Amino acid sequence: MACLSAIIKWVLPILVALYGVYYWQFIASRRYFTSDVVLDGKTVIVTGANSGIGRVTALDLAKRGARVILACRNLQKAEDVAKDIKSSTGNSEVVVRHLDLSSLQSVREFAQQIIETEDRLDILINNAGVAAAAMKAGAVTKDNFDFVFGTNHFGHFLLTNLLLDLLKKSALKRVVTVSSLAHERAPQPNMTREDPSVANFLYPHLENYPLSKLANVLFARELARREKASGLISTSLHPGAIFTPIWKTIVDHRSPIRGVMYYMFSPLMWMLFIDETAGAQTTLHCALDESVAEFSGKYFDNCAEYEPSTFAQDDELAKELWTVSCEATGLKC
Ligand SMILES: NC(=O)c1ccc[n+]([C@@H]2O[C@H](COP(=O)([O-])OP(=O)(O)OC[C@H]3O[C@@H](n4cnc5c(N)ncnc54)[C@H](OP(=O)(O)O)[C@@H]3O)[C@@H](O)[C@H]2O)c1
Ligand SMILES: *[C@@H]1O[C@H](CO)[C@@H](O)[C@H](O)[C@H]1NC(C)=O
Repeated sequence: MACLSAIIKWVLPILVALYGVYYWQFIASRRYFTSDVVLDGKTVIVTGANSGIGRVTALDLAKRGARVILACRNLQKAEDVAKDIKSSTGNSEVVVRHLDLSSLQSVREFAQQIIETEDRLDILINNAGVAAAAMKAGAVTKDNFDFVFGTNHFGHFLLTNLLLDLLKKSALKRVVTVSSLAHERAPQPNMTREDPSVANFLYPHLENYPLSKLANVLFARELARREKASGLISTSLHPGAIFTPIWKTIVDHRSPIRGVMYYMFSPLMWMLFIDETAGAQTTLHCALDESVAEFSGKYFDNCAEYEPSTFAQDDELAKELWTVSCEATGLKC
């Protein structure tokens, strides 16, 4: 009894006060993109728009009047989200197209369809991502890349390059690539290519989430450098620590109680992470804010420019990764 009353008297208030400080520091401090810019007549593609921050990003763009293309691997989930967005915004120009970033063939088919059917593309948002190969360690994509690296980087690399001419003909000309703070944990990339009969996959050291997210930052930087003259604006960003389904794969990855961990941690994530609306704001800022035009090639966090890791600022590394990515995806460049 005495113990319980001590908890109520001392421990609880301390916990509440600590959480208050945390909330004020990390959650209440998140900035929101408040501009009322309108996108009538503009076309936007959002990859992975059926879930998490991609869904909120697509919703916001649809509210502003854009034609929004949800580029997703799961058509059923995407159609459900498209329906919700259409009914809540009154914008009928919300369409679903199939895109599986873990297959270069799928990326090519998607891009071909866009080029044939769309007369413009103003903004491309490379948002989709996997954090861990949910199924098994050492999983590979259809093209024999590490599953996470292949999906997050090579897929978006090819996609962006195939859509570049269409983007450059448009009014806004923006490419936004959603990276992560996790890129800071990446080692120096070793881009050696090996015979897949001896190595697990084609690029045996290009694997895992941090490296894929470093590749996202280097890609955005090199794209900006190459397209300086065309006026294309390319940025990358950390969206924040957000409570989305992506944590399901991270938390459950290799856990003996797969499928349960995520639900056990959910209340904690709900308290400590930002929500999906807050998580979409830096993407929207990079896609739409006028001031970003002066920051092409840069990395953002919380709606402001932010310094990425040392490797992420290495122009030689960015060029080398570009060359390797062309070889990997079969692009002539
Ligand atoms: N949540 C965070 O705390 C956090 C932190 C830093 C960075 N990020 C980044 O934010 C981005 C969005 O993630 P989220 O948190 O919103 O997670 P999410 O809800 O899991 O959304 C990820 C989206 O990517 C799609 N996707 C996965 N593999 C794909 C493939 N092969 N082809 C096409 N689409 C694919 C998913 O489709 P399915 O629904 O079919 O799986 C889903 O729509 C990711 O790039 C992630 O790395 C998130
Ligand atoms: C890169 O990996 C290859 C083997 O795949 C190895 O021979 C080489 O030493 C590595 N390079 C560095 C700089 O670690």
